[in-house]
Amino acid sequence: MQRTLGTCYYPEHWREEIWEDDAKRMAQTGLSWVRIGEFAWSRIETTPGQLQWEWLDRAIQTLVSADLKVVLGTPTATPPRWMVDRHPDMFALDQNGQIRGFGSRRHYCFSHEGYRAECRRIVQLLAERYGPGDQIAAWQTDNEYGCHDTTVSYSTAARHAFVNWLRDRYGDDISALNKAWGNVFWSMEYDRFEQIDLPNLTVTEANPAHTQAFRRFSSDQVISFNKEQVDILRAHSDAPIAHNYMGRVTDFDHHKIGADLDIASWDSYPLGFLEDRVGATPDDQRRYARQGDPDFQAFHHDLYRAVGRGRWWVMEQQPGPVNWAPYNPAPLPGMVRFWTWEAFAHGAETVCYFRWRQAPFAQEQLHAGLLRPDSADAPALEEARQVAEELTEAPSAAVAQAPVALIFDYDAEWAWQVQPHGAGLSYFDLVMDHYRALRRLGLTIDIVPPTQTDFTGYALILAPGLIHMADELRQALEGAEGQVLLGPRSGARDADFNIPTTTLPPAIDGLDVRVIAVESLRPDMPVALAQVPENSTGPSTSAPPGTVGKYMEMLEGTAAPVLQTADGRPVAVSNGSTTYCAGWLDATGLERLLTHLCATAALPVQRMPDGVRTRKTATEEFWFNHLAKPTDSPVGVLPPAAVVRRPIDND
Ligand code: GAL
Repeated sequence: MQRTLGTCYYPEHWREEIWEDDAKRMAQTGLSWVRIGEFAWSRIETTPGQLQWEWLDRAIQTLVSADLKVVLGTPTATPPRWMVDRHPDMFALDQNGQIRGFGSRRHYCFSHEGYRAECRRIVQLLAERYGPGDQIAAWQTDNEYGCHDTTVSYSTAARHAFVNWLRDRYGDDISALNKAWGNVFWSMEYDRFEQIDLPNLTVTEANPAHTQAFRRFSSDQVISFNKEQVDILRAHSDAPIAHNYMGRVTDFDHHKIGADLDIASWDSYPLGFLEDRVGATPDDQRRYARQGDPDFQAFHHDLYRAVGRGRWWVMEQQPGPVNWAPYNPAPLPGMVRFWTWEAFAHGAETVCYFRWRQAPFAQEQLHAGLLRPDSADAPALEEARQVAEELTEAPSAAVAQAPVALIFDYDAEWAWQVQPHGAGLSYFDLVMDHYRALRRLGLTIDIVPPTQTDFTGYALILAPGLIHMADELRQALEGAEGQVLLGPRSGARDADFNIPTTTLPPAIDGLDVRVIAVESLRPDMPVALAQVPENSTGPSTSAPPGTVGKYMEMLEGTAAPVLQTADGRPVAVSNGSTTYCAGWLDATGLERLLTHLCATAALPVQRMPDGVRTRKTATEEFWFNHLAKPTDSPVGVLPPAAVVRRPIDND
């Protein structure tokens, strides 16, 4: 697989006279790809039915003539003003019933049939014009589904579509739905599907089964919206199709959408994410202000490698300060290069910088580009050029299967949001805590979907927080060769959000443990772990033993304790190669448990110095220093923003 670079370009923002020079400079910088068009609907179709293709033809021709490969975006994230005159009810409504109106972007409801027809029409026109021939090397559908909180809509269109979705799911049998949801509780039973409202504007919380069904429906609407575009593009073009996903946007099932696409890509803004998306502590926000969190980008690289079933890109890479975070510092010199190599270390094919030139107008005036608004080089341009040069020495890579698999399930994320049981308890955070602990142990990780049924070759498989587990996954985990870590909350609900009563969770064959009660804990009441478990087969340490916080379950059964609280309650228990963890462990506790499981699996670990991370491809080993100061590491002193790439001796 070739490693390449690119950028995001908006020819409609610039005088046509400078396009050629821009294209030449992109090529001279060593960029191969240029993404265009994803917001250009108002220039392609100036009034309904009036198509202005000529400028786009010339722009594409100019870029292709400079030997650049074009990614053409479908413009459906930015319906023009005339569109909302034609479809005044096309907007999404927020939870309070407020319209999310015109004047920025993503002002549409995924369920609005009229807008969907307009999208099919414009995509059909684009596909017919640019599909044949070889000018378009790849497509992007829409832009960042879900961005600005736009997956879930409480519109009338959404309600109609939801009712039909429920009718399908429950075989048009309203009593089946009433039973599945437990609607006898609080006299919530329905006579007809048409009576079912969306789960907002209720007096107190809606039935969690109702809300979870609505979250699943909302995700399915994104998937079918995307699929309509994909089907049209494929009918006219052989070029691969991508979508650009985001960091910590989890409102739709990316694994499902990824199955309809050829390439997963995501938009990586390491400094922009730090406060709101990572949720870093104030100390870490300061420590990593110019470098970004050491694990957040890596996590998404691994996640989108799974979503893309191996093929993935960074479609937008932060090149300097952004405009949209609470604070927007400039990256440390070298970080743009660093982030690019980090993506390649995780198997990215292509990294594109957002954007080519800083725009002097509109919402993103303060967002850096590779060029300044006056067209002079911005600092990131030199770093991109440097990576392009370095790629001549390391032009391609092969990704190897990692020794560790970590399951990420969007359905579980919604279920935890619907019923967190304690303030701020989040599945995403729980999975991130496991991911961080693995990285601190120097491990290379594959994130896998909950539909994975083959775990051959994984020494360690982690499935934290999978609140509903499909039978296929359960069986696959029961039969896996490696060490399996489940819990907390694994298998805690059936498909309709009820607690299983025939066999209490987690109901794993061969693991004699049942969750008999649960509690969530205030942040100021963590429960201390014991230094060594009573039967002393588990991990022992002379360091502080760690705590369980946030959430804890009471267990019953004969599985052997591996971790216990200081007052003797089992926290992690094992039978054979399966371990269940009944609480949310802090970093120390989690590291103890994972170190123990790795030792049992004969998987070597190497504790990383603070801020240092490592990853292996099939042939290379990478080392990264995420700190703003030099640090010691197993491969020598690493200066700030250091990237070390070494061949692996596979013999
Ligand atoms: C992304 C988006 C781009 C641009 C960028 C600014 O989320 O896809 O269009 O807005 O953010 O950082």
